[in-house]
Amino acid sequence: MRIVALLVPAVLALTSLTAAAQKPTAARALPKAPLAAYQGAAQTPPMGWNSWNYFADKVDDKGVRDAADQLVATGMKDAGYTYVNIDDTWEGERDANGVLHTNAKFPDMKALADYVHSKGLKLGIYSSPGSHTCAGYAGSLDHEAQDAQLYAQWGIDYLKYDLCGFIQDVMEKQAPHDRAEQMRLMVASYAKMDKALKATGRPIAFSLCQYGWDAPWEWAPQVGGNLWRTTGDIEPDWDRIYAIVSQQAGLEKYAGPGHWNDPDMLEVGNGRLTLDENRSHFSLWAILAAPLLAGNDLPNMKPEIKAILTNRDVIAIDQDSLGKQGSRVYSEGEVDVWTRHLAGGAMAIAVVNAGGRRYSTHPFHLSLAKLGLHGPQTGKDLWTGKPITLTEGQPLELAGHGVLLVRIGAPK
Ligand code: GLA
Repeated sequence: MRIVALLVPAVLALTSLTAAAQKPTAARALPKAPLAAYQGAAQTPPMGWNSWNYFADKVDDKGVRDAADQLVATGMKDAGYTYVNIDDTWEGERDANGVLHTNAKFPDMKALADYVHSKGLKLGIYSSPGSHTCAGYAGSLDHEAQDAQLYAQWGIDYLKYDLCGFIQDVMEKQAPHDRAEQMRLMVASYAKMDKALKATGRPIAFSLCQYGWDAPWEWAPQVGGNLWRTTGDIEPDWDRIYAIVSQQAGLEKYAGPGHWNDPDMLEVGNGRLTLDENRSHFSLWAILAAPLLAGNDLPNMKPEIKAILTNRDVIAIDQDSLGKQGSRVYSEGEVDVWTRHLAGGAMAIAVVNAGGRRYSTHPFHLSLAKLGLHGPQTGKDLWTGKPITLTEGQPLELAGHGVLLVRIGAPK
């Protein structure tokens, strides 16, 4: 299933590219409504766990309960991880009345929601505006209100709504050669589910998954999106993670409390990512005010991975109350320097070495002036936990794919 799921967006990406020439017309079809009230959800970027990145189609009731148990046992819940999100492959068939049932892996969704809630956590679920999801399971097309009511009855708190099947089912069928109309149909499909969710009266965070095609940051907030994917799928591979990070530069103006850019779920602890890569990944997601949805095997999490995911100082950057996403201020060779402005005038600085190997100790020289800072700056190195003073031209020896993440309390 994962192969299908990964291939579909890739194939569709090609279709989307050919549409580029006609995009200006599409913009006129966007809703004019002012930014929605965001249902009060996601005042800071959502934090939790999602089943897809590690379990994919192997997710089941037990795996979700285990994840909930582990969020509590590992201290992740105390550190802010709240949502337990079931991704694709929970769906069964619709009955004669159109009511969607779970498949055999999820015998009783209401009981599962009750269990997750009993731990002080929230439960998320997944669907598609198409008739089928990316992994080929039932989607919500023509059953939006019914599905939203079902989610509310179960006690669902978060919906990831993944475009996938809607492209072939509706956009290409109803408007085969009209990209502007396809765009209108797509936006309308998200607006329809937003309305259905709001009609339930239950606060349900709304996560749009549309792979970052067609600039969702420009229209997702107007269809109630609390977050929207800005890219195709992440993988537990540094090159993929770094490519995603590079695509986030410039999107910072679209994010804020209640509405966030989503560079995809975390791969921390997955695949063969080194500790430096895991730290850089987590640091950058914090700088980006990204949702922190862990995607690893929680019952078998190594202590050093837990230490990364529960680093309170880094989480505090991500969850900063100002809600201002960070920016890439400058790049020099393989090193990128990002900053994020924080509540109370504080600032986070991330210096990332995208280069893989180091054959010498020749350092990178940090320019504080380029960051708008003057003279020595004192702060905290958030990975060593120690005080640090940065000076103009500071020589920094960064490990391959490593990061220096510093919080400056009172930048000058
Ligand atoms: C798409 C999404 C992924 C995941 C899968 C499930 O590929 O981008 O995050 O939800 O579908 O099939």
